[in-house]
Amino acid sequence: MSKKRHEELKKILSEHDYNYHVLDKPVITDFEYDQLYTELLKIEKTESGLDLSDSPSQRVGGAPLGAFEKVAHRLPMLSLANSYSPEDISEFDERVKKFLKTDKDIEYFAEPKFDGLSMELVYENGSLVRAITRGDGSVGEDVTQNIRTIKSIPLKLKTAKPPELLEVRGEVLMFKADFAKLNEVQQENGQQTFANPRNAAAGTVRQLDSKIASSRPLKFFAYALGAVSGVDFKSQADIGKYFESVGLPTAQAQKADAVRVCKDASDAIDYYHFIEKQRPQLPFDIDGIVIKANSLRVQDDLGLVARSPRWATAAKFKPEQSQTVVENIVVQVGRTGALTPVAIMKPVRVGGVTVTNATLHNQEEIDRKDIRVGDTVVIQRAGDVIPEIVEVILTKRPKHSEPFVIPSKCPACGTKVHKLEGEVVTRCTNPLCIAIVKEALKHFVARRAMNLDKIGDRLIETLVDEKLVTKFSDLYRLKKDDLLELDRQGDKSVENIIKSIETSKNTTLARLIFGLGIRFVGEQTAKHVADHFVTVDNFLKAGEEDLLQIPEIGPKVAKAILEWTSNPKLVKEVHDLISLGVKVQTPQRSTTGKLAGMSFLITGTLPVKRDDAKDFIEKNGGKILGSVSSKLNFLVVGDDPGSKVEKAQSLGVTIISWDDLQGMV
Ligand code: IVH
Repeated sequence: MSKKRHEELKKILSEHDYNYHVLDKPVITDFEYDQLYTELLKIEKTESGLDLSDSPSQRVGGAPLGAFEKVAHRLPMLSLANSYSPEDISEFDERVKKFLKTDKDIEYFAEPKFDGLSMELVYENGSLVRAITRGDGSVGEDVTQNIRTIKSIPLKLKTAKPPELLEVRGEVLMFKADFAKLNEVQQENGQQTFANPRNAAAGTVRQLDSKIASSRPLKFFAYALGAVSGVDFKSQADIGKYFESVGLPTAQAQKADAVRVCKDASDAIDYYHFIEKQRPQLPFDIDGIVIKANSLRVQDDLGLVARSPRWATAAKFKPEQSQTVVENIVVQVGRTGALTPVAIMKPVRVGGVTVTNATLHNQEEIDRKDIRVGDTVVIQRAGDVIPEIVEVILTKRPKHSEPFVIPSKCPACGTKVHKLEGEVVTRCTNPLCIAIVKEALKHFVARRAMNLDKIGDRLIETLVDEKLVTKFSDLYRLKKDDLLELDRQGDKSVENIIKSIETSKNTTLARLIFGLGIRFVGEQTAKHVADHFVTVDNFLKAGEEDLLQIPEIGPKVAKAILEWTSNPKLVKEVHDLISLGVKVQTPQRSTTGKLAGMSFLITGTLPVKRDDAKDFIEKNGGKILGSVSSKLNFLVVGDDPGSKVEKAQSLGVTIISWDDLQGMV
């Protein structure tokens, strides 16, 4: 009897979940819902042998996981070609027609491009069995525990005849209002706040503790298929309708005109403008639209190029702009002594994040835009790009405002600052300037440099303020007792710091050279230099000619290195590091790897971290170049690539994807 009631309650509750979370149209009160839910829980507590797999009680999260399991996708999760203007939609349409050798109009299915993270839901015989992140497109992570907590995702498909297999692809995201609430609570509880709804959603999906995930309101929108068996579709529009019919959340279920079947490209361009207008009012962030050939047969004919379908494209929106007020302009001193003016603004949301700071770069830039304290300004932000002030609204300028001038004395040490001939940057040239010393030390300890991973920016500030450290070598002179005297350092953390200092002593010449922070010597240049000179002594003794033998090094970089290595104080620092135990291993560049003798450059966003991609190339013997030139063999292209692609094409450089690259190895 109660078993039957249990089945009934599951059905009723899932219907109400659908009305509430997908359609946003609840038909019963929260109180009524709670009563039904309590009844369900009561039965589950007393009865055995019930099917709990699709019970709403399973949405509250389970025991925390140690790690996510890696799972291969049955079919790869592809990426999309991007463009930024509606005209590109016409170009896409022309490409499609040319490929199909037709001049008939192509029907397109257009929908919002959700700004979240892509996810694959696997339904077997109608039951949700797994949820997998995109990962690198081939292998993702099993995040089923967390995804189950998303109330709009059905645990069981609403159909009498569920297909054997249905892989549903879509986007997990957080609504703007939920994001704002979450950040408020996080702030109050002294916990980390998130920069934007996408980060909040991603952070939640990657929570090992699904109880935390369940407390955060995520949403899901379905938009594509993975592998399927037992059901057939003719068009993209069909797929959407089917998703809707089986209870999966879609954009069109919320609002019928959120998606559109377009009879041709110009219809799709109309849709682009239509959605762009609605963008600010939408409850969630989108960053453009996606256009797909509607007919699946046409999609099939068009096929793929690299890891992107030829039958779809994304047309992104121009960056969002907002207005705010510049409350102050402060001047920061960087590692090279460069003074950077930064506008501190009244917090404002733009392009999906709350913005308070914007760099003003230098005096020339300030003069050109005539930015003053008190000004109302237009700011914009595109994708992950740092926000910028576009212009000042002069009509709103307060009376008696004054142009901002970078001070003639360093704000950190008071020394007179300089502006070199031909440079736009003003610099503090006092090598003992406390701000420069701090920044130099932060760079030295960084992960990609000497990797003293337990020493963060805050600790560096304290160590310098307490005069425990004034130069690199002092880090290796730190004693346990010195650290214990600092505020907030317990036994355990001091032990960890000392350990990380010890571990960092085993390093490479490239890391050391990079860590020294010589001007113009970034990580790649440091590697080239290290490869060439092999030992510390060779490097310190190198003259201009020796340096210029390295193909990647020009006169400017050589001069900067020589300036450094001819300063006896700095050279002594290196010797001190070595006598304090720093051991420099001989660089090991694989000359036998699969990529030996080939050069690479990366552009756009890859499915893995850029540093990891570089490591991968170098571990396999490949070389990373700094720019596109005829010397370049391969350009590795990710999402949202920049102008490098065009340049590479014009030079005949081979263009490959991350997957292609892995294939080569
Ligand atoms: S279709 C490749 N439709 O965009 C075709 N993707 O660059 C399958 N995305 O990783 C994707 N909204 O996360 C499709 N309405 C939409 C989308 C969408 C957002 C994301 C998706 C994918 C990326 C492609």
